[in-house]
Amino acid sequence: MESAYLIEIDHADQTPTVLYQDTGHCIYWLGLSEPTAFRTNSYLICDGDCAVLVDPGNRACFSRLKERVAQILPPQQVTDVIVCHQDPDVAASLPDWLVLNPDIRVHTSPRTQVLLPHYGIEGYTYVDTEQQPVFTLPSGAAIRFVPAPFLHFPGAFASYDTAAKALFTGDVLASLDVGKRLWAGDFDELAGNMRLFHVEYMASSVATRGFVRRLEGLQIDMLLPQHGQLIGRHMVAQALQWLAELPCGTDLIYPDLSDE
Ligand SMILES: [Fe+2]
Ligand SMILES: [Fe+2]
Repeated sequence: MESAYLIEIDHADQTPTVLYQDTGHCIYWLGLSEPTAFRTNSYLICDGDCAVLVDPGNRACFSRLKERVAQILPPQQVTDVIVCHQDPDVAASLPDWLVLNPDIRVHTSPRTQVLLPHYGIEGYTYVDTEQQPVFTLPSGAAIRFVPAPFLHFPGAFASYDTAAKALFTGDVLASLDVGKRLWAGDFDELAGNMRLFHVEYMASSVATRGFVRRLEGLQIDMLLPQHGQLIGRHMVAQALQWLAELPCGTDLIYPDLSDE
């Protein structure tokens, strides 16, 4: 296994962790690591004069996340935020980011956009990920938005970074994990931790299988969920196969109906 996959989360001394770096394009894991099983992952993509925050997180961690961003660039220079769905662990800090920079563009789905004003925000720049499914960055790399309906929100989506071949999956492939390893090292352990979350949150195996089918043709080197361990190249195929075959949600709640 590549040594980069052996990074340990240090709860005491956190700095942004580079996940990908090439000329003019860089992805950071922002190093917030609450010692809880529901740890959230936020990411920053830096590309030319664009700084794209992926799933900014809850209000309680805003000031710590701002400090992490400040280790890379002035936080008011965040130009774009991607919000994969409206849950508070993903989006509740949005009002704070918009105070720092009112010109931030918020990339999200129409179903999420309907709900974001309930955080008390208005008048921000909304970019519809269904109408504009490709966000081209200054380097020529792009972020492609891939709908993930009913995983778990009807308007959820994933974001594919064409330079890093990284898929930001939101709650999909999220795991409940209290370990120190940033990257998954043992698939059976990862699958157990993902199962804890998926069986109750994800709608059905039709939804998981359909989403995996949408990813066909994409080369994916990293799966970057919003909770738990990151999934490196050596486990991508296994993780997607696991997801496609997962009984969850209504499959388990109404087992008698799935054969009808
Ligand atoms: Fe969620
Ligand atoms: Fe979440």
